[in-house]
Amino acid sequence: MIKQPLVPLSDMIMCLSDVVDLVSPAVANHHKQVAYIASTLGAELGLPAERQRELVLAGAVHDIGAISVRERMGALQFEVDTPSQHTELGYSLLKTFVPLVKVADLVRFHHTHWNQGNCAKAPCQPVSIGAHILHLADRVAALLNKQQEVLGQARAICDRIAEQSGRMFMPELVYAFTRLAEKEYFWLDVTSPTLGSILRRQLRSETLELDMDGLVDFAALLSRIIDFRSPFTATHSSGVAASAESLARLVGFSESECKMMRFAGCLHDLGKLAVPTEILEKPARLTEDEFNIVRRHTFYTYRALEHIDDISTVNCWASFHHERMDGKGYPFHIKGQDLLLGSRIMAVADVFTAITEDRPYREAMPNDRALRTLQQMADDSILDSHMVSLLKLHFDEINSLRMAAQATKRLAYDEIMNDLDVANRRGNDNPAWLAFNCGSQSTTALGGGVEITSDGGLGEQSKLLQVGGN
Ligand SMILES: [Fe+2]
Ligand SMILES: [Fe+2]
Ligand SMILES: [Fe+2]
Repeated sequence: MIKQPLVPLSDMIMCLSDVVDLVSPAVANHHKQVAYIASTLGAELGLPAERQRELVLAGAVHDIGAISVRERMGALQFEVDTPSQHTELGYSLLKTFVPLVKVADLVRFHHTHWNQGNCAKAPCQPVSIGAHILHLADRVAALLNKQQEVLGQARAICDRIAEQSGRMFMPELVYAFTRLAEKEYFWLDVTSPTLGSILRRQLRSETLELDMDGLVDFAALLSRIIDFRSPFTATHSSGVAASAESLARLVGFSESECKMMRFAGCLHDLGKLAVPTEILEKPARLTEDEFNIVRRHTFYTYRALEHIDDISTVNCWASFHHERMDGKGYPFHIKGQDLLLGSRIMAVADVFTAITEDRPYREAMPNDRALRTLQQMADDSILDSHMVSLLKLHFDEINSLRMAAQATKRLAYDEIMNDLDVANRRGNDNPAWLAFNCGSQSTTALGGGVEITSDGGLGEQSKLLQVGGN
């Protein structure tokens, strides 16, 4: 019997924050730095502890709506050109999880200038002091030069912030920041390699703990954050979660274990947040370097989640989905007999869902071809043959659950993207998005199908990427 988990929400948020800042060295630690600056400024202003904790959480995820590396880099400019798109998307995603509704409001207005008063999109809703704090903290972090010694930068950063007092920033916040900036510890903490532990200590008194049902609710938010970065993967985690849960039920997992399997399915590709969308959506064969960047994702998922003891089994189920029965998978090369049954289920659910979805480099497979592909992978000791047989035996049932879960998620995706008009923005500059929307995906690079080869070189890597690299 697996122990019932009880996980602080803040632990899950910090995992998320850890992964999103891996997407580029230029943004390393940016979310943590903003979280620290905002909460420390909140303390300097004498805000209650609960408001300070909200600032940590908001800072830890504030740029979650910046989908591509280009957007993340753009958000680091002191004066951001078009910030509303990433702030609105971040808000739309976060507000779907009730305990984060206040955090969502802070994220929504974290680029709103003080002298703009109320945001034009919400004329009746005054921008809270928390959002103004988050804005100032974000701009301070954007001004930090990672290549230079930090204490020597304090004066110039203060001057730059003070110039905007009464315009970009609330004057009272600028005074408080100026006081804080005189203290060396503040700057040394901001640039400390142990900033993550400092923040986790600040959140120690967090009271909200997620039980299994709470984690499943949180997982729905996580899967949106992971999947909505690309129209091609917008429903992937939902399909994997539904397929894995129904396979788990068929092999006799208890109801609570089935919920854990759904949770694991939702977060199995958490590490993809560290993979640039420019690579995920490339409508052509990846270079070897790009492919290696994609392959990192399960390692990142595992390392991000391993700090949380209560979900160590979920972590193994989620993170080992590219391991293979013959030990030739990645990144740990665990052999079949050492893989938990849940991990083997997840691997089958992942491949099954991936090959029945359209991707930038190929179209979805019809059912009969998908089943032949799965059987071939079982015969080649890639997937667990018992789990593949179970899927074949109950194909109609599992497939309809998968399709229903993905259809529901597609509706949610379309609704958010239509609301935000993000689709048009992406269509202007993203060939993968154009191909997707015009119904003429680029399949020339890879022949439009899954390539099953048996060589051990890049052909083998291509196979893993195309069949299971999702
Ligand atoms: Fe930011
Ligand atoms: Fe994956
Ligand atoms: Fe996947």
